[in-house]
Amino acid sequence: MNKTIIVSNRLPVKIVEENNELSFIPSEGGLATGLGSIYKEGNNIWIGWPGVDVQGEREQQEVTQRLKSLNLIPVFLNKEEIKRYYEGFSNEVLWPIFHYLSTYANYNYQNWLAYVQVNQKFADIILRELNPGDTVWVHDYQLLLVPGLIRLKQPEVSIAFFNHIPFPSQELFRLIPWRKELLRGMLGADLLGFHTFDDVRHFLSAATHLLPIHADANRLRVENRIVLAEPFPMGMDSEKFSRLGNDPEVLAHIQNFKQNFNGKKIILSIDRLDYSKGIIQRLNAFELLLSKNPEYIEQVTLYMIVVPSRDTVPQYKRLKDEIDRLVGHINARFRTFEWHPIAYFYHGYPIEIISALYNVADVCLVTPMRDGMNLVSKEYVASRNDNTGVLILSEMAGASKELNDALLVNPNNISEIRKALITALNMPKAEMEERMKAMRAVVFKFNIKHWVKIFMNRLQDVKQMQKNSMAN
Ligand code: G6P
Repeated sequence: MNKTIIVSNRLPVKIVEENNELSFIPSEGGLATGLGSIYKEGNNIWIGWPGVDVQGEREQQEVTQRLKSLNLIPVFLNKEEIKRYYEGFSNEVLWPIFHYLSTYANYNYQNWLAYVQVNQKFADIILRELNPGDTVWVHDYQLLLVPGLIRLKQPEVSIAFFNHIPFPSQELFRLIPWRKELLRGMLGADLLGFHTFDDVRHFLSAATHLLPIHADANRLRVENRIVLAEPFPMGMDSEKFSRLGNDPEVLAHIQNFKQNFNGKKIILSIDRLDYSKGIIQRLNAFELLLSKNPEYIEQVTLYMIVVPSRDTVPQYKRLKDEIDRLVGHINARFRTFEWHPIAYFYHGYPIEIISALYNVADVCLVTPMRDGMNLVSKEYVASRNDNTGVLILSEMAGASKELNDALLVNPNNISEIRKALITALNMPKAEMEERMKAMRAVVFKFNIKHWVKIFMNRLQDVKQMQKNSMAN
């Protein structure tokens, strides 16, 4: 039986080490849920890094054995590989450039070599598992070279690639010293998926400017093979977030939160710690609101959850310090004996708490400087079963192309964010319901299952197009 091999930098499990014992907790991340229906079926598999440094052959064998029962195959990375491939190249070159922060990029030849070598390591494991007729679906910027490396050894195989982060304008992409190698790697795929039409446009522009290849609309010819680049805005598990609103544990958290908030309005902000998320600008906008509109003092609280992430990368460490300082400053400036403006949490939380917060928040404030899609905005909408609540969303998030009934803002315009907050906090119920209903229709129709289905169907179309063009 033919199988599908999913490949991403991280496996869809969290590995936790307690008392020298490793346990595997299935991840609740969007991708893991979405692709769960695929990798758990038949002889399909998911290949990726288990996220912890497992040393020693015996330990690695044990982890491999235990993951096997979950259809997961590990790619072990040593400390040096984590430092150079993951932190150094993926997160200090590709991440900042793809998010338009070229000044944050740190080009280092040794890190590039490690990126090549780890992509080859992934490709070798895929090739070991791959049989003729199988499909390989590679995910995200950490593995841009993998499609090309597979194609080299298996010219006929179906390969798809999906980029979960923005694809930058070619003027930025071309800054990367190894831009051509990266493009050639991506073009090993038959189908290249992006969240938005603009990402596709930027990719096509980079490919045709930097390589001697031709594009006919979104169809490229790469050594006589047709390759398609298309937008597939990623959905999420809307049913799950809607159902969680009736879960007894979530209902208990909701009641607790409501008691604590005591009638105050809640503005919710949830992100991974990342400079692409616009957290500083968001705090500046909230400070502006309190200083220009003192009528909101003691009336609103900004509930801000920042989930720790990549804290070994210097830019992230600096950002954490800056957020700590700014939250301290705003709280000290405006707090009263009864109230503090910002409840700031530097933790990850279980989905039941997150769902409860989505349910109690009057406003969800999502203002990234750049974001491939942004699933928080969609999760908030899917959670609002009673059609109340207001979403303020950055126009720089992929989700803004679909959720155009949100209050859309430019994340650099803090005065615009302040005005949007005022509009949101005073929005008449009828308008709120009208907007929320329209957004819910989108997130329920274009959910994660739909996304996987149309993507896989399109991959079959491309293979058919290739066959037809060979026959002509
Ligand atoms: C983004 C990327 C993912 C990545 C995730 C968490 O969503 O698109 O590929 O896994 O961030 O980042 P981390 O570096 O912890 O894997």
